[in-house]
Formats: sequence, structure tokens, C-alpha cells
Amino acid sequence: MAPTSTIVDTQKRVAAHLVGREREIELTLAAVAANRDILLEGPPGTSKTTILKAITEEWGIPLLFVEGNADLTPAKLVGHHNPARVLREDYSSDNFVAGPLIEAMQRGGFLYIEEFNRAPEDTLNTLLTAMADRAIAVPRVGTIVATPTFRVVASMNPYDNVGTTRLSTSVHDRLNRLTIGYQDEPAERGIVTLRTQADGDLANHLVIDAVSVTRATRRHPDVRQGSSVRGAIDCVLVALQLALLRHLTSPLDDAYRELVYDAMTVTLSGRIHLDEAAESSPERVLREIWEDHFILEPAIAEPG
Ligand SMILES: Nc1ncnc2c1ncn2[C@@H]1O[C@H](COP(=O)(O)OP(=O)(O)OP(=O)(O)O)[C@@H](O)[C@H]1O
Ligand SMILES: [Mg+2]
Repeated sequence: MAPTSTIVDTQKRVAAHLVGREREIELTLAAVAANRDILLEGPPGTSKTTILKAITEEWGIPLLFVEGNADLTPAKLVGHHNPARVLREDYSSDNFVAGPLIEAMQRGGFLYIEEFNRAPEDTLNTLLTAMADRAIAVPRVGTIVATPTFRVVASMNPYDNVGTTRLSTSVHDRLNRLTIGYQDEPAERGIVTLRTQADGDLANHLVIDAVSVTRATRRHPDVRQGSSVRGAIDCVLVALQLALLRHLTSPLDDAYRELVYDAMTVTLSGRIHLDEAAESSPERVLREIWEDHFILEPAIAEPG
């Protein structure tokens, strides 16, 4: 096992890449440092990729992305023989084109399977075998043994129920799991400030308002899944460009609120998913949120 100072140093350096998330970094790092694979379960935009990027960067190893969907067959994950070369040369390990699983095993990287629960069952089984054995037998190539830093990290959205495989108890029993939720309001303001490089009175007001209305999309009764912090980031960036187009320079300008609403419709309407039973539209929901924010509770719009 690595000396404790090493993992503590890594934790500190990883934390420097992110706003908050100390607990998630600590638990994820503990799992992967223990040579274990892990499933990160949380809605979109909750730092899953950011944490894994930071850890793999610190470890100096590759992070290979795979999207779990019905097309992700075991052959896509493992790899295939180049058909033209097979015709000329017959099968050999030379003309084998490694898929992401083999590449991650050979290079000692993290194989990151997003939307894990959308992958077909035979693909999950291939993966579970590779995870258990840390080796895989590839026909006509031989047995590939994983480099020690190889890990499988899976992610899934707990609200996702379209085209998903219900993970069996035997799959769950082979995985460690960490649930990740949305961050609190100050942390989301910090993220949006960092990602938009917001600076100045107008931008600072936009960060506060964009984060507040984005968070409100997650609480609205007609909404099944609201927007992640990505919506707030885009809202600020789009609003800043709108402000240039409309020659608006101050949050005290009479046209400021309408500008925020316009930026909200562009950046948030596609990111909120209404309940099937709701007789509303994303635009109507956003108008309600906007009215609550600016008209019913204007105090919360004031910067602290
Ligand atoms: N804690 C954080 N610190 C800094 N930036 C963050 C943090 N969390 C999220 N972000 C930013 O928010 C965006 C979304 O985060 P990320 O890609 O990590 O989400 P995710 O959980 O992987 O989402 P998905 O499930 O949709 O892939 C990125 O632009 C990222 O930079
Ligand atoms: Mg991601």
C-alpha cells in the first residue's frame, strides 16, 4: 500500500481542482486507492467527471470515456480485428484494434462508463469478469493482464429510467457505490464564478440570480428533473452577451430582469424535464420561477 502521506497529498491536490466536494473526493479516492472499482450515482452536472479527471491527472494515468447505451456490445468494449488486414494476414494480435476496456487495462487507466445502467447485460457481464479477474482472455490475441492502476468507474443518473437495464443484485454486489447530490448554493455560486470568470457588479449579480433560478428548477412541483449547475454557467455567459447587445451595464438597469428571463429561456428550457402529468411548459415554469425570484422574493436577489 502507498504511504499515507502520498494519498493525503493526492487528496489535497485533487481538492484544489474543485469547489467543495471534500467528502466525495475523500471517499472516491479511498476506493480507487484500495484497488477497488466504484459506481458514482448522481444526477447530471454533479462533479462526477470533474473528480475523476482530477484524480487521474494527479496519478498521471489516462481516463477513457465510454457511453453506456444499447449499442455498447462486448465487442465494442473489448475490441475487434481489422477486417481488411485479417483478409490479407489472417488473425493475429498485430491486427487487433483494442477497445476502451483493453486500452484501459493495458495503459493502467480508469475506464469511465457513463450511464452504466443503459449498457446491455452481456456487456456488463464482460466488464464484471474483467473487474473480478483483472485480466481478460481475447480470442486469437491471448490473455490481457491489467496494469495495476486499471479501474472501472461507472456512473448513472438515479432519475434515469429510459432504456435502462435494471441492474441485478449480482451486479450491485460486485460494485462499491457513492451517491452524489447537488451542492449547496454558495458552492454553486463558486463554481459558476470559476467557470464564467465572472468579474464586476453585473457579472456578480448574474451569478447570484442564475444560481438561484437554476436551483429553483429542481424544486418546482411540475419538474421531474431540473437543471444542473451547467444551466447556471450558461445562463451567466449568455446573459453577459445579451447585455452587450442591449447596451446594459448595470444590474440596476430597468431592463436587467427581462434580460435574465431571456437568458433563462435559452439556457434552462431544454434542461428541465416536466412530470408527465404536468399541464405546463418549460417556458411557463421558468416564468413562474422568474416571478418568484424577482417579484415575490426580491430580497433574495440582493447580494449579501
Ligand atoms: N465541484 C466542482 N468544482 C468546480 N467545477 C465543477 C464542480 N462540479 C461541477 N463543476 C462544473 O460543472 C460542470 C459539470 O460537472 P461534471 O462534468 O463534473 O458533472 P457530471 O457529474 O460528470 O455530469 P454528467 O452526469 O452529466 O456527466 C463542469 O463544467 C464542471 O467544470
Ligand atoms: Mg460527466
